[in-house]
Amino acid sequence: MNIFAIETSCDETSASVVSNGLKVRSVVISSQIKIHAGFFGVVPELASRAHIENINHVIWQALSDAGINFTDFSRKIDAVAFTSGPGLAGALLVGAIAAKSLACVYKKPLIPVNHLDGHLYSSLIENKSVKLPFLSLIISGGHTELVAVEDFGKYKVLGSTRDDAVGEAFDKAAKMLGMSYPGGPAIDKIAENGNPEAVKFTRPYLKGSWDFSFSGIKTALLNYLKTSPVRNEKQLNDICASFRQAVAETLCFKSFEAAKKFNLKRIVLGGGVSANSLIRKIFLKTGQKNKIKVFIPSLIYSTDNAAMIGCAAYFKQKNCGLKYDDIQLKTNPSLSL
Ligand code: KG4
Ligand code: ZN
Repeated sequence: MNIFAIETSCDETSASVVSNGLKVRSVVISSQIKIHAGFFGVVPELASRAHIENINHVIWQALSDAGINFTDFSRKIDAVAFTSGPGLAGALLVGAIAAKSLACVYKKPLIPVNHLDGHLYSSLIENKSVKLPFLSLIISGGHTELVAVEDFGKYKVLGSTRDDAVGEAFDKAAKMLGMSYPGGPAIDKIAENGNPEAVKFTRPYLKGSWDFSFSGIKTALLNYLKTSPVRNEKQLNDICASFRQAVAETLCFKSFEAAKKFNLKRIVLGGGVSANSLIRKIFLKTGQKNKIKVFIPSLIYSTDNAAMIGCAAYFKQKNCGLKYDDIQLKTNPSLSL
């Protein structure tokens, strides 16, 4: 089954052709980072406009890379999937309208996909051996969710963030440090040259709950900078390394505690923050020590992309079937898992 998938929930315009859920025949991602960098965050109106400008080209390129053109779309594509939420309202609408138009013109079923389902299943694309059940940690710019996955579409959210999402904390920390947007990759890079023990940031473990809280570390950084403003490169490196260490240890500690408590032998990471080099390292190492298998998507499938939407759509239709008359489908910016 070939699914043509579109993702426009935030600041990446992406389209992909995915065969049978796991074989990515093409994936095209057009990033808007340059547009938003000067604002230190995504500006919703600018994001919507950029999606409108990019979407046609991205769709055409994804089809062309998979050896499909508009004349054989009908024959070669079985369904059209799109991200229906959560995300920016205007941005979601652009992808939804493009997907509905294709479905309407070519008379294909439409599959609305929860963006978080996409991140949840993104590791499966490259690791066909991931078996159920597993613990999923979704860490992105908008979400921090710890989820026990029993089966496709059958899961329990154990905990989520009570304040900032982990990616948001990285982005805000980078802004305080005068660094570029997005802050996660910028801090990650600089942290490589620093001493992670230099500044003792708190680890918000919130014992007795599976929830997370990252605003405390962020405030600790703000207070630290008030008394010790950055004066040189070494100090900046050390602060970034210490901040990254505190975040990575918190995520790792809580995830492995949850895996042990719920007797889950696999942990699957997803979301933009799973691109973080220390988080990747620390999870893999702790997994080896505890005999828990850790699966992390490669960088292209960590951040927002349409291939993960095609993958999640495939498993969704396997459980729920296909519908042909859903042209009235609505997007939902605050859709939850
Ligand atoms: O999943 P994603 O592309 O979009 C959302 O659904 O939010 O995640 C974007 C987030 C941003 O906050 C970005 O700073 C963070 O992922 N990120 C990172 C790294 N690469 C991206 N955070 C830490 N380390 C990284 N290497
Ligand atoms: Zn995302």
